[in-house]
Amino acid sequence: MQNLDIRQLGINPNHWYVVARSSEVLSSPLGITLWNHPIVLFRDNCGEVNALEDRCPHRQVKLSHGSIKGDYLECAYHGWQFTPSGECVSVSYLEANQKLPSCKIRKYAVREQDGFIWLFPGDATKAESVSLLGVPEWEHLNYIATVSTIDCQAHYSFLIENLMDMYHGHLHNQYQAWASAELQDLQEDTNRVDAHYQAQSYYKIDKIWSISQLFFPSLRRLHPEPLDVSYVYPHWVSTLGQDFKIYCLFCPISETATRAYLVHFTSLNSFWRLHELPVCFRKFVKNRLFGSAQKLLDGLVREDVKMMEEEQQAYRHSPQRRGYELNRALVSVQRLMKSQATGNEYLTPQATVEVN
Ligand code: FES
Ligand SMILES: [Fe+2]
Repeated sequence: MQNLDIRQLGINPNHWYVVARSSEVLSSPLGITLWNHPIVLFRDNCGEVNALEDRCPHRQVKLSHGSIKGDYLECAYHGWQFTPSGECVSVSYLEANQKLPSCKIRKYAVREQDGFIWLFPGDATKAESVSLLGVPEWEHLNYIATVSTIDCQAHYSFLIENLMDMYHGHLHNQYQAWASAELQDLQEDTNRVDAHYQAQSYYKIDKIWSISQLFFPSLRRLHPEPLDVSYVYPHWVSTLGQDFKIYCLFCPISETATRAYLVHFTSLNSFWRLHELPVCFRKFVKNRLFGSAQKLLDGLVREDVKMMEEEQQAYRHSPQRRGYELNRALVSVQRLMKSQATGNEYLTPQATVEVN
């Protein structure tokens, strides 16, 4: 297992992946790709999201070019219609002596939760027993959300390694996201790696006008904060002090392409007076401030994507070349990826790794 090339790893399909934002699945079918599988998402009459293989069994074209007719998905080419379970129910030019073709396309387990569409690409009988990460802050009135989409021409391992290695604050100096990270503790388990860093943060959200720190650098003051990052396979969660929580929700597309949704939350938990106001007002504040960290988040993503795509290109050019890794968290991250992707028993040397 140790000799497996991490940049060629597959995924463990028996997890819930995030394939779209809820707001992307509207009145037309949406085609997505999850680990080389084209999948079409569409809403039925009740607004429920369904997921089918994105392939018309008639001539193998993409069903996502089609349209939704009531509860059915209609192919763009000859108009065959399919149920949310993937059965063909209508061919308008069927002759009296012809039967409907008994073709059936694959249906995927899918859920809509916390603003995102979660899909289980593996053994559907296992879907119910595997917990979905979820993003509880999405609906919570005390959290202001910002979402940035990462589209990166690189293997997913480059992205999770980027997210777990907080020493790369150096790259983001101009955005002042965090500084002076120091890895203090590392824990590994069969499904996750938790890395605890001590860092310096520029932001503190303790006054109502603190949000303006996102816009005015002169208002920021460096101060120490714990910085926790976790690889909760296949996703990533992080907290910086009390005020910030960030998720990265993964949709690995192929061996050389990754999509992910970076979801940033600014906490309003310190403002107890705000919590006493009517819910409709709090909802108004939450919606009004949605996207307030957009510039920051998009800037961080741009810088990271550039680095990761260069890593992928360097790998393509010289796959045998090895870098020098000094961050122990990444050794744990690679071990977890390998054990998940290969289905091998997780071989952790010890439950907790002390970091000097
Ligand atoms: S290709 Fe889909 S209906 Fe003919
Ligand atoms: Fe980054």
